[in-house]
Amino acid sequence: MKFNIALLAGDGIGPEVIDQAVKVSDAVAKKFGHDITWKPALTGAAAIDAVGEPYPDSTHDVCVAADAVLFGAIGHPRYDNDPSAKVRPEQGLLKMRKKLGLFANVRPTFTFPSLLDKSPLKQERIEGTDLVFLRELTGGIYFGEKGRRDNGETAFDNCVYTRAEVQRLAKKGFELAMTRSKKLCCVDKANVLETSRLWRETVQAMEKDYPEVEVSYEFVDAVAMRLVQWPNSYDVLITENLFGDILTDEASVISGSMGLMPSASMGTDAALFEPIHGSYPQATGLNIANPMATVLSAAMMFETAFNLPEEGKAIRNAVNKALAEGIVTEDLADGGKAYGTKEVGDWLAANI
Ligand code: IPM
Ligand code: MN
Repeated sequence: MKFNIALLAGDGIGPEVIDQAVKVSDAVAKKFGHDITWKPALTGAAAIDAVGEPYPDSTHDVCVAADAVLFGAIGHPRYDNDPSAKVRPEQGLLKMRKKLGLFANVRPTFTFPSLLDKSPLKQERIEGTDLVFLRELTGGIYFGEKGRRDNGETAFDNCVYTRAEVQRLAKKGFELAMTRSKKLCCVDKANVLETSRLWRETVQAMEKDYPEVEVSYEFVDAVAMRLVQWPNSYDVLITENLFGDILTDEASVISGSMGLMPSASMGTDAALFEPIHGSYPQATGLNIANPMATVLSAAMMFETAFNLPEEGKAIRNAVNKALAEGIVTEDLADGGKAYGTKEVGDWLAANI
């Protein structure tokens, strides 16, 4: 098959980890007889520097025309401590999500048998953990009206959800649950927030369409707690944008390194794949960042965007083998030999 893939390397370690995912994807294409054309485009601080805005129209056009988007990371310290900056790299990410209609962010957390001792949690607590967050990505407090009043002394960010927004996300959640252990948890704060009550009421009304799915409703604060107590008690979790942002960072470290967790964003007009770690500016250019999350995002791309599970599996097998044989970057080396970003990428590509 022939694929056009938009390649948005972005900022910080983005370009380095993306290079490895390209290498590995090309190795997969070679092995399985596919033909990938990569279409690089600017995004983030790199795009601000080049053309003055973080998600230029030219990049949007490349993404819309592509079969999938592979994305590195966005963010630059130059903007983090400057609340007055008019253009910020993160705006590019939000604009991209909105314009591509990427409303469902799929963030899995799973453990690797060879890394159980790397987790900050006790081994017996995390064994068997295999859960997926479906985070709503184009609504809620991120996109509601925001501003200042009272001469700047008061600030507000409105959280708004429509029933239709909740339904389309929840539908993906129910469908995903049907392909897994048929357990769905709706995470909200319905004891306080009106938007959460809309979420709960909407999901409750959908239960009858999926009689086999066992649905639970839990408050976000309780989920934050249970996630570190018994992560293996969860399977599919659906939640709104901000709760999902926070809980998926929490969940991402369960496996032992944030540098391992991939993600997919699905939507109306495109599908985007990215590591869940950020731009990790301190490591930029040092060839130390873990490329595995990006490489596994490429696996998700083959599996979900192209419906090629065998290709995805080939990548996952290579990653598992690298972990088992200690071909890892310093975040996982634990006093042993640490390989560079590029060396891990080369090894993975050679082992497809
Ligand atoms: C994420 C990131 C983004 C978010 C930031 C960079 C805007 O933290 O993808 O989780 O908050 O959604
Ligand atoms: Mn986040």
